[in-house]
Amino acid sequence: MNQDSKKEQLFQIVYYSAGSRLMTSEELQHLLKDSRLYNEAKSVTGLLIYSDGCFMQWLEGPQAAVTELFRKIRMDPRHHSVTQLIGHETHQRSFTEWTMAFSSLQEASEEEQESFRSLSSLLDDDGPLSNAESVVKILTESFLRDNA
Ligand SMILES: Cc1cc2nc3c(=O)[nH]c(=O)nc-3n(C[C@H](O)[C@H](O)[C@H](O)COP(=O)(O)O)c2cc1C
Repeated sequence: MNQDSKKEQLFQIVYYSAGSRLMTSEELQHLLKDSRLYNEAKSVTGLLIYSDGCFMQWLEGPQAAVTELFRKIRMDPRHHSVTQLIGHETHQRSFTEWTMAFSSLQEASEEEQESFRSLSSLLDDDGPLSNAESVVKILTESFLRDNA
């Protein structure tokens, strides 16, 4: 067996969306509990950020599991304007340790909070955000650094 055949074939999706209304912490905990059970069963890992009533979620795992989950998430009435920022194959997980990590950005720096807020322009009719990938990078890398 060569090195390549040992690599996992994975798919990664990142999206941004607006909550239909502000979620209570109980509702969020409930969502996370259900999500982690499902994700563990399907080998999906990732990060959910919820701040200012908006979500950014990173999903990674086997392609069929990630696309099926994203199909369900898109239809979920708890949010709307689901906008995909990233969708591609990958061979490596970034969130190996988390069936769904969570951050409300409360401990985040002003730069991180501002980066997250900049994603909300996606919800206006401004067209695609040219730096969406770099915003995702800032937010995920700082989460991974703070939670290493
Ligand atoms: C912002 C957001 C993120 C979600 N993330 C996940 C997730 O990571 N895993 C999961 O199983 N469900 C997640 N859900 C819930 C799904 O949308 C859906 O309710 C769940 O998969 C159950 O769907 P079903 O009843 O059709 O099986 C999320 C919902 C929202 C609003």
